[in-house]
Amino acid sequence: MALAEAARKVANEFEYTSEDVNAAVKEFLREMDEGLEKDGTSLSQIPTYVTAVPNGTEKGLYMAVDLGGTNFRVCSIQLHGNTTFSLTQSKVKIPAEIMTAKTAEELFAFLAKQIELFLKEHHTEHYEGHIQRIATGTTDKEYREQEIFNLGFTFSFPVQQIGINRGLLMRWTKGFDIQDAVGKDVCALLQKEIDKLHLPVRVAALVNDTVGTLMARSYTSPGKTSTLLGAIFGTGTNGAYVERLGRVKKLAGGKENAGAYDASTGEMIVNTEWGSFDNALRVLPNTPYDAALDRDSVNPGIQMFEKRVSGMFLGEILRRAVVAVLQDLSVPLFKDEDSSVNELHSTTQISKDSSLFRTWGLDTSFLSIAHGDSSPGLRITRQALDRDLGINAASVEDAEAVKIMAAAVGRRAARLSAVAIGAILIQSGRLETVTGNEELDVVDIGVDGSLVEFYPGFEDYVREALREIPQIGEKGEKRIRIGIAKDGSGVGAALIALVAGKVPNPADAAGE
Ligand code: GLC
Repeated sequence: MALAEAARKVANEFEYTSEDVNAAVKEFLREMDEGLEKDGTSLSQIPTYVTAVPNGTEKGLYMAVDLGGTNFRVCSIQLHGNTTFSLTQSKVKIPAEIMTAKTAEELFAFLAKQIELFLKEHHTEHYEGHIQRIATGTTDKEYREQEIFNLGFTFSFPVQQIGINRGLLMRWTKGFDIQDAVGKDVCALLQKEIDKLHLPVRVAALVNDTVGTLMARSYTSPGKTSTLLGAIFGTGTNGAYVERLGRVKKLAGGKENAGAYDASTGEMIVNTEWGSFDNALRVLPNTPYDAALDRDSVNPGIQMFEKRVSGMFLGEILRRAVVAVLQDLSVPLFKDEDSSVNELHSTTQISKDSSLFRTWGLDTSFLSIAHGDSSPGLRITRQALDRDLGINAASVEDAEAVKIMAAAVGRRAARLSAVAIGAILIQSGRLETVTGNEELDVVDIGVDGSLVEFYPGFEDYVREALREIPQIGEKGEKRIRIGIAKDGSGVGAALIALVAGKVPNPADAAGE
């Protein structure tokens, strides 16, 4: 078969039509309702106990840490109170052995150590003064209160929140796998390790990155419109949105656990955990590449939406598709023209050691590169094939074929993303109210993550699919404002630490 034809055939397998989008929106709305009513559902719909979003006037110095993807970030944030902030941060890659450590202690001790290093480097007086007072025994409670940093902990995994700074890990996602931590309070685990190092830091709030993104976007977003949704399209994908309190039916029984929360706004932020939308595969597409990826993952059968949408997985989907084309010996992909077709490795230009033949061997950034490449002769893609996969003699036709397949995987991911965004928009009812005031009629969405930031045309594809949903249409789509909430999870965590600092901690009140 001709190469371009073979590539287009694969691309067709990733076609995700308007009908598909609409069927999935319907299922998403059903799962949203189900998740608000009871626990143990595909879409977790976790109540966060955060009942208000900031307005940009908040002030103060806070710390935040962020665990949830490839890196662990520690930052301090000065909120200036005029919708702006300054941020100091350090970032380390999480070692693979820590992601799959035997004990929770190993992970949290590593995190506490990074906090210590950060304090030593960026907040010396704070740190040394504290250590000295501990050594001389002159620390009185009142003084300590002022000196202690309130820390917002962005922990981007599914957590059953039982209070503003308490939450039990439900399951790991995105390649983490430390069974010892499942079911435990991750704030307590972190605080314990912080205390072992005598750091002047109190874990004041626990936040999912999507909630942080929503808070940060609300703090910085222009104009009078409050933000509806915070969404991450990065290593993983997920969204948190503002829900009417009355609809969060499962809250009724769990209220006392959460301590006092301010119900006066009549709203609460809900963390959907949409990465696990449709784990039963009622409506999600399932190509042979998707199915094989799931089988080989650490968590088969869960995070099925995430496995088709987010950065941790798209490169792997493409890799599997490319290998399938390559293994069809009648298709001239990466093969020498004059080679007689018999055995794969003797006829291709690729060595057996190429990471193309290794699970997770192709990074999602490759998709962005190939999809966005308009250089003559697709020079940039061919260079990337050489650099990332050791394929050094790819022809223009090879690169074109890979580009066609990469674009199909990326486009499907964006259209699937529109399903989640679209359903939440519909559910919010915000498109039904029209004031005629352009500013007030905007529906604001804060996003973050490598895919939205770097994948060319991601937002355009999302918008295209949103227009295909009848309840949104062209008119509705125009009212949607999507803005990147840069450093959202750090700033958002700081904002929640601020709110938490004001609310008396129920645990303290109970004398625990
Ligand atoms: C995964 C996590 C979720 C997080 C998302 C984005 O889906 O389960 O909590 O928000 O990744 O980082």
